Amino acid sequence: MGGPRAFRIDPGKRRTFQRRLLAWYRVHGRDLPWRNTTDPYEILVSEVMLQQTQVERVIPKYHEFLEKYPTVEHLAEADVDDVRKTWYPLGYNVRPVRLHGIARESITRYGGAIPRDEEALLSMKGIGRYTAGAVRSFAFGLDAPILDTNVARVLHRVFVAKGDPKRSAVRTRLWALSEALIPRGKGYDFNQALMDFGATVCTAKRPACAACTMRTICHTYPGPRSHVPRRARPRSDR
Ligand code: ADE
Repeated sequence: MGGPRAFRIDPGKRRTFQRRLLAWYRVHGRDLPWRNTTDPYEILVSEVMLQQTQVERVIPKYHEFLEKYPTVEHLAEADVDDVRKTWYPLGYNVRPVRLHGIARESITRYGGAIPRDEEALLSMKGIGRYTAGAVRSFAFGLDAPILDTNVARVLHRVFVAKGDPKRSAVRTRLWALSEALIPRGKGYDFNQALMDFGATVCTAKRPACAACTMRTICHTYPGPRSHVPRRARPRSDR
């Protein structure tokens, strides 16, 4: 006991949050290309792209990348410089090199499969706790937690509302929350819903608090401080 699973959370609030989030997602969830596949390789490509790049910029690149390297074998056999060039508009960085390395390792150590095991995923360079959770829930349907900036903001606002979500002690608590909140067997939808909710309702700037489905259970309602306009005077007075 005492580990992250021991995190205490009001069961009623947990159930309400789960129910409302999934209901919201059924109506407002985005139709994104990586939600039409459960191929672990395709999911992995999307999640590595999404680590540092906005959804709108990732979509065309995701299609282009998978046309060029449709399977883990194609990527593993490709020249790493070609992979970097294909990736380039998403930024000159280490992600394509890491992804190429992951493809090679999947071939040499896992018979061409992307592993579903958390330890195995985390042992690969370029896969952190977030990406491991995303691959496990989105590709394998496991109830694995995720925590990126958007998800951390949502959980922090609704359940914590104290401290800075970037601080490591708060972060540890948010990971525990993310895990404790997943309704059994619904890791896929729940995690995708959290992402969309953070990206479109519970946004960093100007969150849509007044119309938010969580407002009656949210610790931060009627809104974060930074959300209140600094200057309340009407425009004509300026
Ligand atoms: N950002 C990271 N992963 C994502 C996903 N699966 N859907 C939407 N945005 C994301």
